[in-house]
Amino acid sequence: MAGRIPRQFIDDLVTRTDIVEVIDARVPLRKAGKDYKACCPFHEEKTPSFTVSADKQFFHCFGCGKHGTAIGFLMEYEHLSFPEAVEELARQAGLTVPYEGGKSGAEPQAGAELWELMREAARFYRSQLREHPDAPTAVEYLKGRGITGEIAKEFELGFAPEGWDHLLRALGKDEATRVALVAAGLAVKKEGGGYYDRFRARVMFPIHDHRGRVVGFGGRVIGGGEPKYLNSPETPLFHKGRELYGLFRGRDAIKNENRVLVVEGYMDVVALAQFGIDYAVATLGTATTREHLERLFRHAPEVVFCFDGDRAGREAAWRALDVALPVLHEGRQVSFLFLPEGEDPDTLVRKEGAEPFAARLRAATPLPDYLFQTLARQVDLSRMDGRARLVELARPLLSKVPPGVLHEMLVGRLAEFAQMGADKLAALLRAPARVSTSFAGRPLGTGSSREPPSAVRMAIAMLIQYPRLAAARAGRLDFLDVSLRGLGLLREVVSVLREHPGLNTAALLEHFRGHEQEHALMRLASWQHPALEPDGVEAEFEGVVGQIGRAVTKERTQQLIQKEKVSGLSADEKRELSRLLAEKLHPAAPD
Ligand code: UTP
Ligand code: MN
Repeated sequence: MAGRIPRQFIDDLVTRTDIVEVIDARVPLRKAGKDYKACCPFHEEKTPSFTVSADKQFFHCFGCGKHGTAIGFLMEYEHLSFPEAVEELARQAGLTVPYEGGKSGAEPQAGAELWELMREAARFYRSQLREHPDAPTAVEYLKGRGITGEIAKEFELGFAPEGWDHLLRALGKDEATRVALVAAGLAVKKEGGGYYDRFRARVMFPIHDHRGRVVGFGGRVIGGGEPKYLNSPETPLFHKGRELYGLFRGRDAIKNENRVLVVEGYMDVVALAQFGIDYAVATLGTATTREHLERLFRHAPEVVFCFDGDRAGREAAWRALDVALPVLHEGRQVSFLFLPEGEDPDTLVRKEGAEPFAARLRAATPLPDYLFQTLARQVDLSRMDGRARLVELARPLLSKVPPGVLHEMLVGRLAEFAQMGADKLAALLRAPARVSTSFAGRPLGTGSSREPPSAVRMAIAMLIQYPRLAAARAGRLDFLDVSLRGLGLLREVVSVLREHPGLNTAALLEHFRGHEQEHALMRLASWQHPALEPDGVEAEFEGVVGQIGRAVTKERTQQLIQKEKVSGLSADEKRELSRLLAEKLHPAAPD
């Protein structure tokens, strides 16, 4: 696994980055008041509602609601993962990302020569497909599989001729380069000394990373032989759990199509592209990982998995479902397409043509249907205990789905199957599982809801938008941990600001990346409310903090009174209660 990026580095990087510069280089911005504007790059619009705040180092689109920091912008706009976006910002700032444990992260510290070697190797294999005396066997093989010269060129297919040292002789000019060829997975070191080419007598499929750089190869044996496909080993450049074949080439089509098709083989991707279905990608002989899925969802909101209809295919599909459940939030969709037995996308699209295949795709089974169909097949729904069993089978799966609309709907559907009330079932499912501490399970609302802004929410928004307020009012922000909606989050925000004084809005938000309430906080960062105007925000903050203090005191008082009735109070608690009651009669003057 990649080493972690130290928190302090992210704080510094975000603090010294100018989001206006980062975005302006990609989406030209116009100054508008103290902010900057442009037409939103994330949705179609004619009048600019995409706003970038230099003060907050934050962007927000009032049209589509997208928002985030400079890191978030790069992730969204350039389809990068978090470490990749950090790498990109660091590169622009002339910094090197210091991975904890020194281990390389997303952007391997592999050194330019490894990248260069991969490029040269790809060029070499390509040239062999034209020039080597044995090339006709490879060309005939490809033709026999229906691959046109045009598509072979587009996918930069190549040929590794039979023999032990073609690549080594072409590229391995000195010992250092031969060592590098081994590091790149292209050559293998012999026990007795010396090296040999890893790929021999194979059609070569170069694998590109998110920037279009060659990071590995898949090589298919020509005709028979084992293994059928030989893939590059894991190297500093190549991680099978992260890369997807065809993603770089297909990224525009995926964006236009708004979905991505995941198939099993290299040949499937190539054949589909030849038939105009160029939004397909393949994993590299491994199961789909969560990282694959997160990456795909950065390109499109819908992922369709395509599997053989046989047992192995169904098992692979169920594993994919399990990996997908935890990442199903915010309108993401997953579907499953099962092909007739004995077919794969390559054979099927060649047999049927593009349109019938696309029709199958449109009819793919949505994940919720697939989930319940599969579980329902394992129980007898006509029996009460069978339905109870269904609930038990579904419980661990549903608990993986992040809270939200989809989760609610899945519970609703399960309730129908179980023939019980959805509320009752939801309560049952919640009972032993997830316990939300100070939040009573209720998400913090957004500024757009109709209920008036609670003081807690307002205080959080103020701290997010004006982090300096925390230092100014430090003494009054020690709230007791009573049960008050949102108070736990407020306490978390205060504690981050105490530990890391001097954070700006964006750097503060980065501390909450991956937090349950990350998106609630992001929305608060762009919330517009008169109390959040820069003039007078100090006084407003003062008032809000006072209000919360009183609510906390009241809650604590009631808690103690309750306890006194039930189990009695300790000496300390008695003193606390009398102090609280006295304060209530004679409130202390605000400091
Ligand atoms: P399949 O065995 O389904 O082959 O492997 P395929 O894609 O239909 O290949 P063709 O049509 O016979 O050429 C699917 C994928 O599994 C991985 C490869 O990524 C392959 O594309 N695989 C398969 C391996 O990594 N090694 C193997 O030996 C076989
Ligand atoms: Mn095949």
